[in-house]
Amino acid sequence: MYKDLKGKVAVITGSSTGLGKAIAQRFGKEGISVIVNYFSDKKDAEDLVKEIEKTGGKAIAVQGDVGKEEDIKKLSKVAIDIFGDLDIWINNAGHQKKIPTHEMTLNEWNSVISTNLTGVFLGSREAIRYFLEKNKKGIIINMSSVHERIPKPHFVHYSASKGGVKMLTETLALEYAQKGIRINCIAPGAIYTPINADFKDPKIVEEVEETIPLGYVGKPEDISNVAVWLCSSQAEYITGTSIFADGGMKLYPSFEIKDEAM
Ligand code: NAI
Repeated sequence: MYKDLKGKVAVITGSSTGLGKAIAQRFGKEGISVIVNYFSDKKDAEDLVKEIEKTGGKAIAVQGDVGKEEDIKKLSKVAIDIFGDLDIWINNAGHQKKIPTHEMTLNEWNSVISTNLTGVFLGSREAIRYFLEKNKKGIIINMSSVHERIPKPHFVHYSASKGGVKMLTETLALEYAQKGIRINCIAPGAIYTPINADFKDPKIVEEVEETIPLGYVGKPEDISNVAVWLCSSQAEYITGTSIFADGGMKLYPSFEIKDEAM
């Protein structure tokens, strides 16, 4: 438990499933009131709110597309109207689709960029405006990916968006550091969530695990543990960086010297 987090208010985008859901569950247990933003899966969001309330936390489900200005404004408005404040904003929503670049339509490109990059800009701007108005040392976490660094063929929209999120984060961290606003990325590797629906196939998991030095796919709690710590005063000297939670994936495992050759 991080005692300094009790009573804070957080918006978490795309939090009815996967990593956002795990962060919302953890925040609820820490006594942080949570706006559970969902895109289309209303029931998942409402079930999560009930679950958080059962464990003594506070949460509200709010529909919204993070690529739309008016929807982002709605998220902060509900947080402030219902919970009275806004301390933490987690830009987590994201999606991807495997498409060779020469077959990718402009709509397919725009769809991923709108959520994964424009959504992060709009969410960050909304939070920063409030933090400046209230002279608040707020916190922003952007969910990037190991693909902020590792190129991902057939996912050019996704890797470009995550590389963009990294630079957006560093730029904003520098721009607002003097105001005490901390802005960081979490860069997950391969984690069991709905975005990796193909992990139901053990063969795929085996292939992916070949690329992970620690040897296994992560679980959502590996990311929510980092998120809650990054928001706490334990991480108060950290801004403008990416925390990789990836089992070592970004360390170019093809260069690894296997045990028998050591
Ligand atoms: P997920 O598919 O469970 O979560 C993504 C959420 O974003 C979904 O709830 C979806 O409905 C929501 N969403 C999509 N478009 C939206 C929009 N326009 N507005 C609002 N919400 C929208 O998958 P996961 O893994 O939890 O993904 C969360 C974040 O973590 C994403 O940004 C993803 O790129 C990132 N990530 C995930 C990794 C993994 O292995 N699971 C690895 C690296 C990064």
